[in-house]
Amino acid sequence: MRKNQTKGTESIMLDKDRMPRHVAIIMDGNGRWAKKHGLPRLAGHNAGMESMKEIVRCASNLGIQYLTVYAFSTENWKRSQEEVGGIFRLLTKFVDLDLDELNEENVRVKCFGDYSIIPPKAKKSMDETLKETADNTGMQFNIALNYGGRADILRGVNKIADKVRSGEISGEITEDMISRSLWSGDENGNVPDPDVIIRTSGEERLSNFLLWQCAYSEFVFTDVLWPDFTPEVFEQLLEEYQGRDRRFGGRK
Ligand code: FPP
Repeated sequence: MRKNQTKGTESIMLDKDRMPRHVAIIMDGNGRWAKKHGLPRLAGHNAGMESMKEIVRCASNLGIQYLTVYAFSTENWKRSQEEVGGIFRLLTKFVDLDLDELNEENVRVKCFGDYSIIPPKAKKSMDETLKETADNTGMQFNIALNYGGRADILRGVNKIADKVRSGEISGEITEDMISRSLWSGDENGNVPDPDVIIRTSGEERLSNFLLWQCAYSEFVFTDVLWPDFTPEVFEQLLEEYQGRDRRFGGRK
């Protein structure tokens, strides 16, 4: 039996002083959830969107400072046009309908990934959401859209190469320079590396997510399919994270 499946919620003991600063989530299993319920894949993404909204609210209430979700990868374009179009319609609906609530929760939305190439309606809504929430001072909610870890590093390295060519950078390239050149870097407020990466649906791989940033992240997995993910499951996984002994390469 995998952990986090049968534990009662009454026993969750979260230590408020040891909350992760940054939680990243690979929201997996929408398609399998839809299949299980005899529904089209888009119904799975729709249900997944509801889970995402609940977790944004829950993370913000728990005092988590940064939440990053993998919403659409550089590889997801390979899916059918219908599915891709449906995911972006859902995104548009979310940012349009939930903007007021995001502002009420004081959540600042940012995007990791080049979203300039997503369908124009979705892009317009994203632009508006980024602008309208930019001054919020609560949790930062990063939506990884058209995001890939390798593309992120490549883009960052090319930005640095440009600066070397123009003479803005001379001498050694440092880790800090690379970190600052990524989507999580200067342009989005220098987000700290994720303390914990959660992946749902029983898959245990990174799938090109935050490759540079995950160097010392804890990984927590659950069999729960993303549309079935609840604040209770989220808190159980955070409790599992809090039980980990993080040594960052050092020894006790
Ligand atoms: C993975 O499940 C999920 C995705 C690729 C899309 C995630 C999208 C949402 C949660 C809803 C839309 C949210 C935004 C912000 C656009 P899968 O389809 O790979 O599931 P499977 O592995 O069971 O087929």
